[in-house]
Order: sequence, then structure tokens, then C-alpha cells
Amino acid sequence: MRIDILTLFPEMFTSFLEGSLIGAARAAGLLDIRVTNIRDFSTGTHRQVDDRPFGGGPGMLLMAGPVVDCVEAVQQQADTGHLVMLTPGGRRLDQAIVEQLATHDRLVLVCGRYEGFDERVKAILAPDEISIGDYVLSGGEVAAMVIVDAVSRLVPGVLGDEESARQDSFSGADRLVEGPQYTRPREYRGLEVPDVLLSGDHQKIAAWRHEQALTATRRRNLQTTHS
Ligand code: 6GU
Repeated sequence: MRIDILTLFPEMFTSFLEGSLIGAARAAGLLDIRVTNIRDFSTGTHRQVDDRPFGGGPGMLLMAGPVVDCVEAVQQQADTGHLVMLTPGGRRLDQAIVEQLATHDRLVLVCGRYEGFDERVKAILAPDEISIGDYVLSGGEVAAMVIVDAVSRLVPGVLGDEESARQDSFSGADRLVEGPQYTRPREYRGLEVPDVLLSGDHQKIAAWRHEQALTATRRRNLQTTHS
């Protein structure tokens, strides 16, 4: 899979892309991830990419020109791909959307900054606008990293163990979060591993895990609605 990231802050991605899972997948040729600086497509004298909003208001907007030119230049390097714009007004990311994104051979992720984009960027490029939650970030870079991380896990071969992606929380038809898990020692500060996990009875263990996952999912949904 190829992923292009378009940003005013390419250095934010350096250590992220070299990190363990994604770095190894890139080295193995499973992921081709490239970062392009939107500022390289500025035509102004001071490499200007932002300006004040018409009609007044706080902050600065990304100008249409550099963003549109950058997207079009990157799209011409290979097949156009699926264009995603990271913006707080987009549809809220969840595992179902991550799975949709992972079906594409190529993603182009455009990171916003400042107070947003000139509206004509959206009119011209018709991007898939995505937000990672109902809170404000100073830019789309962290959101792009969230997408790269979550999508990469679904690219065949990236996880050593293909089972583990399917068993993760929110995966599968029922979208349950995972229940509790334990490793050695069997007793820690007086807290013991549930007997069923030591029973060797795989059917019983599977049933217990499913019950725990239902409980964890119910508890989480209550927290989300009532806090
Ligand atoms: Cl994608 N961008 C910004 N600036 N803030 C956000 C976001 C994106 N998702 C949630 N908050």
C-alpha cells in the first residue's frame, strides 16, 4: 500500500515513520509512505501558504493554491488514490472507516493547520473529510498518524500474526472491546489469574472471553453516554 502525507510540518513524521511496526513494514516493502511539504508549492515570495480570512475573524487559513497544487502534483506520481482531508469537521473515525480506508491501494492524506482550509480546496478536490474525535487539535498531523497506524495494522503481512488484527477490539461483526488478559505471574500482589484461563479447556475459555468482552463493551458504552 502507498500512503502520501501532505503537511506543512514534515519533520513531525520522522520518528513516527521509523518506529517499530511501521518502520519494519516499510523496510519489508509492504508500505510505501512518503511525506511532501505543502510549502514547496507556494508561489509567493515568502513561501506564504496561509492568509487572513475574508470577512474577518481570528487566525489564518491555508490558501487554496498551494494545497490544490500539492495534491495534484502528488496524485500525478502514481494512480490518484483515495484523497483524505484531516479536519475537525469531517466524519468521525472508527474501526469501520479504518477498514474502508485499508481497501484502497493508495491513500493521500492532507493535513490542515491554522484555522482550516479555504473552502475551495474542498470544492475542487472533493476529499473524504475525516476527524479523529470531538476535540480540537492544532493540526491534522497527529490525526494522519492515527490513520496511518490503524490502517497499517490491516495491511496483510504488517502484523506478524494475522489473527491478532482480527481479534483486536472493535474488529469483527460484533465490534466488541477486548476483555481482561493476564500473563505471568499467576499471582501478583494478592490478585490471581482467573481459574478458567488455567483450565486448558479451550471452549470454556472462549465462552468466558466472549462474556467478558460483552461486559467490557457494555461498561464502556455506559461510560461514553453518561460521563
Ligand atoms: Cl483531523 N484536525 C484537527 N485540527 N483537530 C481535530 C481533528 C483533526 N480531529 C479531531 N480534532
